[in-house]
Amino acid sequence: MNDSDDLRAVARAGFEPMVAAAGRDGRKLAALAGLASKIGLRARVYPLALEARALAPDDVEVAARTQQLIGHSVPRWHFNMLRDEPRNAAFDAAIRRAVTPGTHVLDIGAGSGLLSLMAARAGAGRVVACEENPAIADVATRIIAANGYGERIRVVTGNSTDLEMEADLEGRADVIVSEIVSNNLLAEGVLKTLADASTRLLAPGGQMIPAGGDVMVALGSWTALDERDVAIVDGFDLSGFNALAQVPRTVPVADPTLTLQSAAAALLSFDFTAPPPREPHRAALTLTATGGPVGGVVQWIRLQMDADGVYENRPGPDAKSHWGAQYYPFAEPLDVPAGTFVQIAGVHDGQRLLVWREDRD
Ligand SMILES: C[S@@+](CC[C@H](N)C(=O)[O-])C[C@H]1O[C@@H](n2cnc3c(N)ncnc32)[C@H](O)[C@@H]1O
Repeated sequence: MNDSDDLRAVARAGFEPMVAAAGRDGRKLAALAGLASKIGLRARVYPLALEARALAPDDVEVAARTQQLIGHSVPRWHFNMLRDEPRNAAFDAAIRRAVTPGTHVLDIGAGSGLLSLMAARAGAGRVVACEENPAIADVATRIIAANGYGERIRVVTGNSTDLEMEADLEGRADVIVSEIVSNNLLAEGVLKTLADASTRLLAPGGQMIPAGGDVMVALGSWTALDERDVAIVDGFDLSGFNALAQVPRTVPVADPTLTLQSAAAALLSFDFTAPPPREPHRAALTLTATGGPVGGVVQWIRLQMDADGVYENRPGPDAKSHWGAQYYPFAEPLDVPAGTFVQIAGVHDGQRLLVWREDRD
């Protein structure tokens, strides 16, 4: 713990008494919603912002502040994700294959409610849409009602690991659908969340969509990376600052300056019903260069939707995905003839992933 952790802990301990003391003062409650955001009481931001608005409906400053707080509580990528047609189509197709009239579906990480709506449209008898972000869950409830599925889809606000099988689901689900994967597959906690759900909440013989996923890699080059790096600024050579650049770098999968220079391979493969690893897990493989200068390793994701469907955001000129590829640049580019073997290794702890070139000379 450092000083700022201590201060946050003190602020958290005194937070609810401050809310009680604010009473029915909309401005004070809006300020407390801001404080909740600062000290990490994320679940309190939205309810307090709504209460502040209700108590001060004509106060334009309260309206502006709460709008900003609510917007900040929702990651921006939701918007690009909802417009990602290949992703949406892969989920819709798998849901239509799995759902028959009466199927009981659990949607983990429901977001706007899109996958729940797809399941209901495909004929699911009952759908529970579980979403931990209260602002998103509230909006999903309204979206679902506006689309006429309020009777069949029930939104539960909270984390899926807190769901109770009988009280929240009224029995195990036949199908669990989820999309809680990130650029590196793992960062949203998919392994832990789905292992818990498949043990506690899925009916025997039930189906997970997606059923598993792979971390894909290939050798590659991203020539526009140089343009993002710092070089000469105002006559000074600041290129040394590039040593502080984050790794990996995120690159749109259709970036025309990103090319793959080996066949693709799965560095890590996961069955989403299996228990998550308790210790950091390492993997290694050999990629065969197609020839020419290789700048680094490119990583993307592949989802096994079901026995018949695979989704992959493999980089290429026609690729379309809101998930970016992850680029791990080598310290120095490799200029190797076609057929050269390059050893790649990686390690993950269930959430973070790191990839590197093993055979540096
Ligand atoms: C990537 S979005 C997907 C939204 C929606 N399912 C879709 O595909 O359009 C993931 C959502 O899951 C929520 N989430 C992540 N892990 C969760 C969990 N274990 N329980 C409940 N919600 C979760 C996040 O707040 C976020 O809104």
